[in-house]
Amino acid sequence: MTRIYNFSSGPAVLPEPVLRRAQEAIWDLDGTGIGVLEHSHRGKAFMAVLERTEARLRALAGIPDSYAVLFLQGGASTQFFQVPMSFLAGRDGATADYCHTGIWSKKAIAEARRFGAVHVACSSEADQFRHIPAAAETTWSSAPAYVHFTSNNTIYGTQWTSEPAAPAGAPLVCDASSDIFSRPIDVTKYAMIYAGAQKNLGPSGVTLVIIRKDFLETGSRDLPAMLQYRTHAGEQSMFNTPPTFGIYIIGEVAAWIAEQGGLAAMDERNRAKAKLLYDYLDTSRLVRGTVRADSRSLMNVVFRCVDERLEPELVARATARGLDGLKGHRTVGGMRASLYNAFPIEGVRALVDFLRELEAERS
Ligand SMILES: Cc1ncc(COP(=O)(O)O)c(C=O)c1O
Repeated sequence: MTRIYNFSSGPAVLPEPVLRRAQEAIWDLDGTGIGVLEHSHRGKAFMAVLERTEARLRALAGIPDSYAVLFLQGGASTQFFQVPMSFLAGRDGATADYCHTGIWSKKAIAEARRFGAVHVACSSEADQFRHIPAAAETTWSSAPAYVHFTSNNTIYGTQWTSEPAAPAGAPLVCDASSDIFSRPIDVTKYAMIYAGAQKNLGPSGVTLVIIRKDFLETGSRDLPAMLQYRTHAGEQSMFNTPPTFGIYIIGEVAAWIAEQGGLAAMDERNRAKAKLLYDYLDTSRLVRGTVRADSRSLMNVVFRCVDERLEPELVARATARGLDGLKGHRTVGGMRASLYNAFPIEGVRALVDFLRELEAERS
């Protein structure tokens, strides 16, 4: 059985060397005679996995000691409420500012509203989320409790090229679920970065949280222990049984990224992959990109057929050719090619070749 090209938006393609290593580790982790799925989370073997995973992530992204690296559960969707529960609820007169750029920010905003006042500082909704709002389209509240943005909009296919220019001193919180570690990042600009692992980092079931220690200490103490970041920071993510297998895979993915040359090399590869496809979309008479050129995501390329009636056939024929997972999100329609770190450039070439053939056939 050969592997096919997996354009899924998440869970998504993982690096093949990581999958091979994981196969062995499921049988026997690091020569211990026990598989990674079977080790006690408090045993020496798994503690070594946890420590090396954290060290690799810190080295990759230059995460300073003033930040905690946490491996939590409940997905990014849990962060949608854990953030406002911790940093907004019960604070008189406090407002949190949100940048609204798609379905995930909409969900984050809805959860935040359960806990306090939310100010939508900018929104691309009127434009069907086809662009990332510029500073000129943004108005901040005075002294926001924090500013929240979604660095890559998985469904609409837009991505911030740099952080929003939040007011000085406002803690910046980022949902980086679909572009974490796809490019260099200056962690020190953020109070907190969170990401479900299942796109660029590993399997579903583990959420990476990178959070400044002095910021997490400002979080509410009035919450169940599981929902306080300080609990997990104080226990090295071992307050309860952590998602051990997911942590193991993240560690291997981090090692793989380092072997490829680190985040700058990832960025270069990701740019080259996305450019191949966008260049074709810009000249094609069969398909067209849907978002504004200055806001294009390098991770999720969303496109439509010029004649939308062709889309089901295009997706079916692509699937038959081993180009899987191209059907767009149900709210947007069309097609979406997710090109995360582990997606090979050969797969993008195969997709462009396929689209060119179809275009020639139709003209
Ligand atoms: C940008 C973004 N945020 C949040 C989520 C939700 O993540 P989870 O399913 O881990 O809760 C997703 C899932 O695709 C996403 O793409």
